[in-house]
Amino acid sequence: MTRLVELEATGPRKLDPSDLDDEKGDIAVCQCGLSESFPFCDGSHQQTDGEESETTYVYENGERSVVDRVVTDE
Ligand code: FES
Repeated sequence: MTRLVELEATGPRKLDPSDLDDEKGDIAVCQCGLSESFPFCDGSHQQTDGEESETTYVYENGERSVVDRVVTDE
């Protein structure tokens, strides 16, 4: 499975000790691209349960849709 996500950042986010989770003592970095607290995991990855391999998805307003094809202007 793949996911189309929109990100606006144009540079890195430097992490520091204040980013540590007070309860768990770790930093969870989002790898699914769906977190509202990006670059940190907020649990939104649970929406990806049931995604199938060889399928591309887009998530908008909490809804998951299958992408048939991606067209670029090049
Ligand atoms: S990995 Fe993306 S929200 Fe958890």
